[in-house]
Amino acid sequence: MDAQEYFDTTPAPQGVEDVAQRVREFVEHNQRLSRRVVLVSSGGTTVPLEANTVRFLDNFSAGTRGAASAEHFIASGYGVIFLHRQFSLEPYTRHFTHSKNCFLDFLERDAAAHERAADGGAASSGSSAGHDARPRRGSLRVAERLQAEIAEVFDKYQAARAEHRLLKIDFVTVHDYLFLLRRITMEMSPLGKLGMYYLAAAVSDYFIPQAKMAVHKIQSGDGALTLSLEQVPKIIKPLVQEWAEHGFIVSFKLETDDAMLLPKARKALERYGHQLVIGNMLHTRKHVVHFISADRAEEIRLTPDEVAANFEIETHIISRLVGLHSEWIARE
Ligand code: PMT
Repeated sequence: MDAQEYFDTTPAPQGVEDVAQRVREFVEHNQRLSRRVVLVSSGGTTVPLEANTVRFLDNFSAGTRGAASAEHFIASGYGVIFLHRQFSLEPYTRHFTHSKNCFLDFLERDAAAHERAADGGAASSGSSAGHDARPRRGSLRVAERLQAEIAEVFDKYQAARAEHRLLKIDFVTVHDYLFLLRRITMEMSPLGKLGMYYLAAAVSDYFIPQAKMAVHKIQSGDGALTLSLEQVPKIIKPLVQEWAEHGFIVSFKLETDDAMLLPKARKALERYGHQLVIGNMLHTRKHVVHFISADRAEEIRLTPDEVAANFEIETHIISRLVGLHSEWIARE
């Protein structure tokens, strides 16, 4: 099935036109400021097994790469359209969510406020009959040990909001993702070369077409379940050739077998003719990536010291990409 047939035979999810409107306004705002805009796709897509979905297939991605990259793009001056799996990691909040700590562990009672409340209560006790003289317990505040860390992220988050640099759009299924990706890239096309497409989402390769999908919950009483899945069309093809033909397009290639990574990354580049493939291995993706373009191949690898310091490889990835985007804009 090619992309056109897929879109012709799959019901469009609700809300796509509302998203298009928000993207249009975001693009226009950033264009007025001559800002570059990047679409960052992030997190995994699900594949529903039933139209009234009880069960679905999913994948491993938590959206770490996409959320970190979005933050670094904003720090580099870009406006970011962050197309992400619902409840996956997001820029800024990612530092505090999805950890084993409950958010309540970030808080503590404000002792000084407690004292003030207690004094106030004592001073006023007896002055008015029936007044509740019990001291209030004081307000909550960010725990002292986390003040600096949270303040740093908070300031960046507030600045991104104030400058309208971040537009977040979420998806759940592969269908949401594909329809949104198509619509968003079309709205971004006025950006021309100032638009970048950074496709880090882990997109399902297989799905059940609408016409073959069970409407209601598949009954376990029917015995073992055999699934027949069809291939999701490679959406990068129309993206490169039609929807975002003037933009700078970066796709990712994920493998688990070392021997396949570079050949498959090169093949993707040849097949689709876009600007860059970033190859990564499942188990080393946080420490090493490969940039494959038509005229060069380079490795970005964290040093042992950087690994020990939990340095984010996305810092290096985005800084290199911004440079490549600039070179590409300057060409012609
Ligand atoms: O989220 P993290 O845990 O941080 O992990 C990050 C990551 C490993 C998910 C990310 O770095 C990454 O590699 N993302 C791409 C994963 C993927 O879908 O690889 P692929 O080899 O299946 O697809 C290659 C490219 O084709 C991708 O850019 C994808 O957007 C695109 N694609 C995929 C399927 C499809 N039907 N159409 C597509 O165009």
